[in-house]
Amino acid sequence: MVKGLIFDLDGVIVDTAGYHYLAWKKLANEIEIDFDEKFNESLKGISRIESLDKILIHGHRQNIFSTDEKMLLAERKNDYYLNLLSEISPKDILPGVLDFIQQAKEYNIPCAIASASQNAPTILNKLDIDNYFIAIVDPTSLKKGKPDPEIFLRAAELIDVPPHLCVGFEDSIAGIQALNQAGIYAIGIVAEGPLPNADKAVHSFTELDINSLLK
Ligand code: G6P
Ligand code: MG
Repeated sequence: MVKGLIFDLDGVIVDTAGYHYLAWKKLANEIEIDFDEKFNESLKGISRIESLDKILIHGHRQNIFSTDEKMLLAERKNDYYLNLLSEISPKDILPGVLDFIQQAKEYNIPCAIASASQNAPTILNKLDIDNYFIAIVDPTSLKKGKPDPEIFLRAAELIDVPPHLCVGFEDSIAGIQALNQAGIYAIGIVAEGPLPNADKAVHSFTELDINSLLK
């Protein structure tokens, strides 16, 4: 019996995964690092600063920048990202998501957000769906990011539902791994590559029926 729902944000609720890609690509190219969609897959679900470290390693530039310079690079990427986000509105909610969270609310099933993004509260507000989530995990309060299960265990705690009675929704390899380790049933929202460790995989929420899921 499912008693709680935990959602990743980027690439699950809203199509911001493409904006993260464009912002990182712009920054990477400025510091002469090649960046393609295949490499970008390994950054999904990973925090801003960890993503930058991975990009620098990928481009063999890991020893060039000081900690302060890296902070500035991460800020610059976030500025590019926020610029792309400026036009975002409820029309950008991915297909089927709004119906799904509306039904969850009618059934009194608590919903939480477990995203590595520090921009999650702003985005939910712009999409006008913040009132559907009773908890948003603060990613800066975590010891470890995805694929560590901490973020999903914290979300389950915040909605007061044991992990094995929750269902989680993820579009990233790291996020599915985190759900697996947290003992949470993992539904993969597949965009680019496959998500082989998901318990179930769909292309969008339109393929999901909340009534069968809650049984
Ligand atoms: C999500 C995205 C990542 C992004 C991370 C941090 O997990 O999948 O691509 O890097 O959040 O986002 P932020 O908005 O804090 O830079
Ligand atoms: Mg995601």
